[in-house]
Amino acid sequence: MAVGIFDSGLGGLTVLDAIERRLPDLPLVYFGDNAHAPYGVRTADDIYELTTQATERLFDAGCDLVILACNTASAAALRRMQEGWVPRDKRVLGVFVPLIEALTERHWGDNSPPREVGVKHVALFATPATVRSRAFQRELAFRAIGVDVEAQACGGVVDAIEEGDMILAEALVRSHVDALKRKMPEPDAAVLGCTHYPLMEEVFQDALGPQVKVFSQANLVAESLADYLQRRPEMKGPGTESLFLTTGSPKNVSNRATQFLRRKIEFIPA
Ligand code: DGL
Repeated sequence: MAVGIFDSGLGGLTVLDAIERRLPDLPLVYFGDNAHAPYGVRTADDIYELTTQATERLFDAGCDLVILACNTASAAALRRMQEGWVPRDKRVLGVFVPLIEALTERHWGDNSPPREVGVKHVALFATPATVRSRAFQRELAFRAIGVDVEAQACGGVVDAIEEGDMILAEALVRSHVDALKRKMPEPDAAVLGCTHYPLMEEVFQDALGPQVKVFSQANLVAESLADYLQRRPEMKGPGTESLFLTTGSPKNVSNRATQFLRRKIEFIPA
């Protein structure tokens, strides 16, 4: 049994870490497409091609269920994959829906009609491709009414994190929060709509102020995966080994991953 976790680079490790804590006995195969990160500045076709290739590799590694721990791929490629590409005996799930279910105070998988919810003004921080797709607003509209969303495309943040330049990443986050606040001075919630951003969560919270509730995906995705596997245990797949695969330099990627997760992580070539 193994579940696949995909991201364009290191950001999905925030999700992997939360899943490991929630489901410690579940083998996980991580695929970081570091050679092609960032995805956030690519076209939807390009993101689709890269995401399907990586997902295929995860199927080959014994994963019947693959989580796209990447909002950009979830926003730009997932629907197209589910509509015509995913084989009948496999599943590919994204990271948007668990987040939106939490934001709209729903139980996992509750598909009842949209209704009024507690939050009214939501700031969305995401990559340019995710913002352009409007996937967040589309998924939100299925579940909630009367919520005003202001999106801020956070150019440069993923590159800085992938390079390990956290000083630049912090400066960029602060300037993106300022830009958002000029458009929406008083958000009541903020969504970190990119799995790289939890690595900067304290900076987002500090720049937004304590009155803004910050939603980040890692724990929400882990919780909804645990619920899903309880309902569909057969989707755990035949793989038995945890692995870290990268299209980038295994040495560099391992060093940065070890720094982010504060434990030894060893990537091998994908
Ligand atoms: N971590 C990703 C996301 O959640 C990808 C960012 C990127 O590669 O631009 O959107």
